[in-house]
Amino acid sequence: MNRYRLLWFLLAGVMVACCVSAPHEVKLQLLPQPRQVAFDAGDFKLNSRTTLELNAGTGECGELLNSVISGIAGYELLSAENGGGGIRLAVDTAFRPGVPEAYRLQITPEHISLEANATVGLFYGVQTLGQLLSDRQFYREGKKEWVLPAMTIEDEPAFSYRGLHLDVSRHFFPKEFVMKCLDLMSNYKLNRLHWHLTDAAGWRIEIKKYPELTERGAWRSQANYMDWWKGDRRYVTRDSAGAYGGFYTQDDIREVVSYAAKRHITVIPEIEMPGHSEEVVSVYPQLGCYGKPYRNGELCIGNEKTFEFVENVLTEVMELFPSEYIHIGGDEASTSAWKKCSKCQKRMKDNRLKDEKELQSYMIHRVEKFLNAQGRKLIGWDEILDGGLAPEATVMSWRGESGGIKAARMGHDVIMTPGGYCYFDSYQADPRTQPEAIGGFLPYLKVYSYHPVPEELTAEEGKHILGAQANVWAEYIPTTSHAEYMIFPRLLSLAEVVWSPREKKDAEDFKRRVACHIGWLKAKGVNVFTLSDHIDMQTEVDTVRRQVKIGFDSEKYLPEIHYRVNDGREQIYREPFYVRDSARIKAFIVTDGKASDEVLETRVDYHRAVGKPVVYQHRYSGSYPAAGEKTLTDGYRGGLTYGDGRWQGFLADVDVVIDLDSVCDLSYVSADFMQLIGPGVYMPRYVQVSVSEDGQHYREVARIENEVPADEASLVIRDFTARFQARGRYVRFFAKRQNGFQFIDEVVVY
Ligand code: ACM
Repeated sequence: MNRYRLLWFLLAGVMVACCVSAPHEVKLQLLPQPRQVAFDAGDFKLNSRTTLELNAGTGECGELLNSVISGIAGYELLSAENGGGGIRLAVDTAFRPGVPEAYRLQITPEHISLEANATVGLFYGVQTLGQLLSDRQFYREGKKEWVLPAMTIEDEPAFSYRGLHLDVSRHFFPKEFVMKCLDLMSNYKLNRLHWHLTDAAGWRIEIKKYPELTERGAWRSQANYMDWWKGDRRYVTRDSAGAYGGFYTQDDIREVVSYAAKRHITVIPEIEMPGHSEEVVSVYPQLGCYGKPYRNGELCIGNEKTFEFVENVLTEVMELFPSEYIHIGGDEASTSAWKKCSKCQKRMKDNRLKDEKELQSYMIHRVEKFLNAQGRKLIGWDEILDGGLAPEATVMSWRGESGGIKAARMGHDVIMTPGGYCYFDSYQADPRTQPEAIGGFLPYLKVYSYHPVPEELTAEEGKHILGAQANVWAEYIPTTSHAEYMIFPRLLSLAEVVWSPREKKDAEDFKRRVACHIGWLKAKGVNVFTLSDHIDMQTEVDTVRRQVKIGFDSEKYLPEIHYRVNDGREQIYREPFYVRDSARIKAFIVTDGKASDEVLETRVDYHRAVGKPVVYQHRYSGSYPAAGEKTLTDGYRGGLTYGDGRWQGFLADVDVVIDLDSVCDLSYVSADFMQLIGPGVYMPRYVQVSVSEDGQHYREVARIENEVPADEASLVIRDFTARFQARGRYVRFFAKRQNGFQFIDEVVVY
């Protein structure tokens, strides 16, 4: 071959490689992110001539796939007898033995093959394939054909327990809604529904032996739970005027359980005991220590009749729910009635129980024995650790992770549901923009940041963490549409936390995929929260150049952010920029040409006190140190939550002195405080500013009274600003504590 021909040959080879056989690297919209995706060369064309081949054990996966295809393109796959290139679904026991949830999805130009060890794995593979087919970048509308890039997906879950909890007591949600949740859960590969069926607000499951539980215990005097709870807390009969409530018949339960099983979801029933049982005691007062309704919500543990009742109820529950786990609650029981009850005290004496916690533990042990004898396992909230954990029990850790850590170290299995990451009844955005919620602040990216295995556990102990669960308590959630709003998109975060490998987590890429799935959820009729228009402003103080670098971010993916500095021109944000001295910043998101109502308006101050030392009269709280002694003069402002590491918390007066290095003219001192009364965060009573030239003799230059009412329920961030004329080197800033915590982020001085 001469040189020119060789060159031509090589060039042609490169061209072929580029144009024909290079693997496509495309951004997929898969959620949760699979363990591994490898792209290959070429495409598979899926159209009305594509065949489907099924083997034994493929269950209803073929139907499911056809329903996705026909929902988009209006046709189903041809059955394989008709020949032609196609899709093959296979359950093969030689594939990944012992990992039933794993699957491999291979797309080549010739075929699509999906294999798994068991139907459940195949089902998850079909969910993944369904998401690929829902991705419009692969669909040719005119031809009703998909062009799917060749790839191999190897996937399996990180955790075996991937749950959603639903409280149907505080507000009753009909079975159709529960089934909608099950459908959506299965789309995101979640596999446990924890159904909180009983609580003070209403008993929601028909028990044949105790019809009064649902004749009266399921109905209350007011529809809105909070009104009822703050009001008369009465139970009524179903036919009374204004009665609110509902329950699931045993047929309803069977229908839901079977619907879930088809989606490879286990439904775990929760029957609360010994606390949260006001409705039981109201119907059967003899099961409470006082023998009277409306006195307390705890079952009497001294009374054998309580055990007879619990065992009878659980017997019917076990007939309805094949779940190995039966949840018995166990949380938040008050011990006060037991303390006064002669039967309970006798039980304690007879069994040498040292306190009422051990009395509760006695009950949980007994119930566990009963469940174990029927081949079931007890699971309960982390209070079941108190007074001694039952030998086989699994702990659901909700008061943070400490209960879970303790249980795992004792060799018990654990499900993590810590309030700070898994309570979907918390606010998901600025409370001022949201329907009333129980409190807290849990945006979807905070859920995403969660990892269920605490660092302090050894690898061996960590194996006891079976997974995590989102809890949807319904005190403030009166309707199913509101429930959807609280669940989505946060459930997508949880789904990825429990399914995808931790090392694959990537918040920016997650934001991209969530943006797409929000659209899909809306199209499915889900009232998903479409994310806040809040802008996070990041600042970096450059003490060398005496300037502040400013960047914007948002929980939305690639938002169009418009901003203005002082009275300058409105610009579209593309990259961080710098401001010197002081600047007023205004920024907002524009979506489809419409400016958001939520506008960031803030000041950035490269002020006189930046980087200057601060002396504290009273120390800040060890729980909220922010950046320690640098916090109040580091130029950084806090965000919407006091836990963001920018706000410094005080359980005392704030009393600090800032040393500005030299005497100068001063005219302005300002600081922001936060109020959020739910968790006990209050404005100061007043703020005093004093200045001094020598650090000995101070002159008060301003006193600013608080004007925010102490019962203001929503989040307030308010500045206390002093304007004056004085010379000085030392600035003393004093904020009188009102109640609980005070939070302050910066003392701005000019
Ligand atoms: C709980 O939130 N009381 C378990």
